[in-house]
Amino acid sequence: MTDLFATLEAHATAVRLKAYAPYSRFQVGAALVTEDGQIFAGCNVENAAYPEGTCAEAGAIAAMVAAGGSRKIQTIMVAGKGPAPCLPCGGCRQKIREFATPATRVQVVNEEGQLLFEETLHALLPASFGPENLDQDA
Ligand code: THU
Repeated sequence: MTDLFATLEAHATAVRLKAYAPYSRFQVGAALVTEDGQIFAGCNVENAAYPEGTCAEAGAIAAMVAAGGSRKIQTIMVAGKGPAPCLPCGGCRQKIREFATPATRVQVVNEEGQLLFEETLHALLPASFGPENLDQDA
């Protein structure tokens, strides 16, 4: 295990315990490292009006953008619950895509921080739409 894995694992599992998930009881934490080595974390925040809840990945991405440094995600780790890997939902895959490179990796760990899944974002969202689609003259 690399130091980076241990760092992301510590952040993702710690922030998972802060999740506000009274409706699903499914706490999720996410931690990402940017290309310039900054770490950001987020948890899911549910809402009585169910669709208004936000995913852990969205919280980590919002913290990254608010910090104002590199917005390129090197690796994002998701800490979920139970034996099935808590893979990012479709919406979160697209949110990660916005700040991804071809090398961006997605790791999923369980409550104990054991690695359950690892892939590139590209493998999870191939043939995707991204910022470069909007960079052309109209
Ligand atoms: N959730 C996340 O925060 N991230 C994921 O990758 C999958 C699902 C949240 C959304 C909702 O609050 C709860 O988990 C159950 O779907």
